[in-house]
Parts: sequence; structure tokens; C-alpha cells
Amino acid sequence: MGSLHFLSLSLFFFILSVSSVRLPAFDDVNKTMHVPSVAFDPTRVTQLSWAPRVFLYKGFLSDKECDHLINKARGYLQKSLVAAGESGENEMSEDRTSSGMFFTKAEDEIITEIEDRIATWTFLPIGNGEPIQVLRYEHGQKYEPHFDFFSDKYNLQFGGNRVATVLMYLSNVGKGGETVFPNTESSLLQLKDESLSECAKMGYAVKPIKGDALLFFSLRPNATVDIKSLHGSCPVIEGEKWSATKWIHASNFDIPFKKLRKIDVYKLVNV
Ligand SMILES: *[C@@H]1O[C@H](CO)[C@@H](O)[C@H](O)[C@H]1NC(C)=O
Ligand SMILES: *[C@@H]1O[C@H](CO)[C@@H](O)[C@H](O)[C@H]1NC(C)=O
Repeated sequence: MGSLHFLSLSLFFFILSVSSVRLPAFDDVNKTMHVPSVAFDPTRVTQLSWAPRVFLYKGFLSDKECDHLINKARGYLQKSLVAAGESGENEMSEDRTSSGMFFTKAEDEIITEIEDRIATWTFLPIGNGEPIQVLRYEHGQKYEPHFDFFSDKYNLQFGGNRVATVLMYLSNVGKGGETVFPNTESSLLQLKDESLSECAKMGYAVKPIKGDALLFFSLRPNATVDIKSLHGSCPVIEGEKWSATKWIHASNFDIPFKKLRKIDVYKLVNV
């Protein structure tokens, strides 16, 4: 009898607690529902190569998102650096002649939404990502073929190696500025027409189209570095190229990143 009484009493409290959960009122819908401006649509993704693993997502960003990133970055561009040698020190290089800047993670609503979409596409956690970097390549500017994975001890401390890169094109480029993968087996299969520059012929080339995004992996599924992920940015011949990069690590990048002193943050992010 006692246990039945207890049961009915707890049922009573259960019903009471459920009924006291406030359901969102109808006017709250717009505040509580997250409606992305560009829906994630896997049917717009094609696989370009398996070795390295390279995927192209058509229309990953809306024009509005591209323009937002460019306009917000424009005033903060600095000459791009490269990580060099064992120490991972950053230095200027003739190999990389663009200018760039970094946002902070989740810097505003639009950036947060883009970062969410990247995580959805890649299946890699937001926490493993570096902040988004925006790059501008003016006439003649380029980035010679290089790897995104690290070999120096300094950079490997932070979230382990880079697993993947999402490269988003923020502008159309009149001519040149292609992303080229010189070590890709499928490069021979690509028809090279007049719209591609001479540099693009050194490997599998992707023409920058505003809003499109490339995803490629620097590590193979067994976690060894993939030397086929070698890639470069061909010199811009006509117009200007704007891109945004998200590098994604093997593990969480936020915790060590927050612990770094400001000087180290600068050192770390300018690679
Ligand atoms: C939500 O926002 C849209 C667009 O601003 C508006 O048309 C709609 O009426 C809003 N819905 C509610 C329930 O307030
Ligand atoms: C990792 O995978 C690659 C390509 O499949 C293979 O050649 C290599 O031997 C593997 N390495 C290890 C340590 O398993």
C-alpha cells in the first residue's frame, strides 16, 4: 500500500513538473530556432580525388557570406608568413606573397554559422578548428606548392597535426589563382581548357568560384601524413583572389590556444 502511495505521489509530481515546462510561445519561434542562411546540402559535393582526398562543395557560402568576410577582413590584412624549419618560426617568404588576417572563432553570427556548417560537412568538431583565415592575392601573388601538415615540434603541440583544410573561395578570379595539386593521380584525367592558367597545368586544378569550397585531407585515414596533399595557389593573372581557410586539427585546438600568450598566438596563427 505504502509503495503504491509513493508511486502515485511521484507520478503526481512528475506530471506537475512536466506541465510546468514552458513550451516556447509562438512569437519565440524566431528567437529559438536556428535557421541557417545556406542549408547544408550534401548533393552539391563531388569527390575530385581519392589520393589525396579532395572534395568540392558548390555554393558552400552565399554571396552575402563571402562579401561579409571580405569586408570585415579588408582593413586588417598583413603580409602572409610561412612556418619554417624545426622551430616552426614564422617568416616572410618569396613562396607566399599574399596578405591575410585571422578572425577569432565565432567572432560574429555569420562566422559562427559558417563554422557550424564546416563541422557538419567534415564531421570534425568545431573545437578542433583554427580560427578562419582570410587571404587576398593581388595580381601576380601566389603560394608555391606546400603542405598544410606540420613537421616541427612547436606547432604539433597545439591540437596535434592538421587533419584537413576547408578552403573557401570568396571571389571569382578573372584568370589564374587556381588551387593546384601537383601530386594528384587524377591530374592527367583533367581536361585543361583555355580558362586555366599555365601554372594550373602542373596538376589537378580547381578554378576559384565565389562561394565554392574545397575540403582536402593532409593526413590519411591511418593518421600518417599524405604527401599527395601538396597544393599551391597559382599566381593571379587577372583580378583579385579572396579566400578563407579553416584548418582542422586531430584534437581540440581551443584549450591550448586560449592559454597562449598574445605573442605566441600571433606566432601560431600566422602560418
Ligand atoms: C519570423 O520571421 C519571419 C521573417 O522575418 C516573419 O515573416 C515571421 O512572421 C516571423 N514569425 C513569427 C512567428 O514571428
Ligand atoms: C598508411 O596508409 C598508407 C596508404 O594506404 C600506406 O601506404 C602506409 O603504409 C600506411 N602506414 C601505416 C603506418 O599504417
